[in-house]
Amino acid sequence: MLEALNSQINAEQYSALLYLSMSAYFNEKGLPGFANWMYIQYQEELSHANKFYNYVVERGGKAEIRAIEQMPTEWNGIIEVFEATLEHEQKVTGMIDSLMDVAVEVSDHATQSFLKWFVDEQVEEEANVMEILDTLKLINGQGNGIFMLDREMRQRVFVDETQAAG
Ligand code: FEO
Repeated sequence: MLEALNSQINAEQYSALLYLSMSAYFNEKGLPGFANWMYIQYQEELSHANKFYNYVVERGGKAEIRAIEQMPTEWNGIIEVFEATLEHEQKVTGMIDSLMDVAVEVSDHATQSFLKWFVDEQVEEEANVMEILDTLKLINGQGNGIFMLDREMRQRVFVDETQAAG
């Protein structure tokens, strides 16, 4: 179980840097709203990594901080970025499900309870990305619609939900 939780710390840190990389991409493309949205996504993923880290420590385990794989730095347009985001979140959902499987297998009830927050979080994350992707496809990833959407995405602020949910 400890090994699986340590791997997830690394996976969440990778997610954080993937979204920071996407934020940099949008900044370079002159889309500050999209860049802001991805920067907040980066902060959320860091809070997820920290939630796993603190849980391992709290349970008396040794948290291992490992090297992070190089993430992509270039995409072919906005739609491709959000397709990659959705694909990544679906992969993370699979990881959380596998973690839950291990916790059930070894009858680790505390970890099952801890993971429940992430199961719910993944449903929300996938839904958010799918909604943006639908809008992007509707406006074909270009034109005035992008300008409007960029302004809307500038409004997103970071709320540390890992603290609120305990
Ligand atoms: Fe940490 Fe986007 O799930």
